[in-house]
Amino acid sequence: MALYPAAPSSSAMLAAARSSDEVLAFLGNRRSCPAPALHEPGPSKDELAELLRIAARIPDHRRLAPWRFVVFTGAARERAGQLFAKRHHELHSDASADNLARERRRFSCAPVIVAVISSPELAHKTPVWEQELSAGALCYNLLLAANAAGWAGNWLSGWMAFDERIAAGFGLDKDERVAGFVHLGTANELIKERPRPTVDHLISYWR
Ligand SMILES: Cc1cc2nc3c(=O)[nH]c(=O)nc-3n(C[C@H](O)[C@H](O)[C@H](O)COP(=O)(O)O)c2cc1C
Repeated sequence: MALYPAAPSSSAMLAAARSSDEVLAFLGNRRSCPAPALHEPGPSKDELAELLRIAARIPDHRRLAPWRFVVFTGAARERAGQLFAKRHHELHSDASADNLARERRRFSCAPVIVAVISSPELAHKTPVWEQELSAGALCYNLLLAANAAGWAGNWLSGWMAFDERIAAGFGLDKDERVAGFVHLGTANELIKERPRPTVDHLISYWR
């Protein structure tokens, strides 16, 4: 049984628009949660599987599904932290014990961390840029779906998202990249709004 709204059948006729003040208010007030403020509990394995199913309903040119997920929970988060500390030490031999401890703790707050992996088909006629944009859309859709299910979250990268050794350690192929680490859990406090860009000066109408 679906924990969250079930998937429509593949032949379902779906509304292309559905007005909802609630969704507009949700989007207009959404806020990420700083990673250190994320706590247990997080989504269960079944809940996460459904969140990922919902999150993957994103635009995807030519239906390549050019992404996949690597999930970190439980002790795997500590092992990831050990990998970060080891690599950090390789890159900075003078790293302090405090720095190494900070690297070790990177995945220790949120109970669930989803690495969204951009996994493009390089030779495909759909440009890699478009495939990567789809991975970015997936990160954000996962954050929104998780928020709507009551989980707090944050889309983060950090140096480890760009390091080849870490990528290899997480099982990425050479053409794959981390689009984001989406940290999910519970927030026990309200998060202060941050300054938002005004967009009026960013809008132009081409004539
Ligand atoms: C691709 C990407 C990577 C990010 N990486 C980091 C990061 O490593 N550290 C960080 O503090 N914020 C990072 N952010 C910003 C946070 O996700 C978040 O947007 C920010 O805290 C603002 O919160 P908001 O979602 O409420 O606007 C990243 C955002 C994006 C889109």
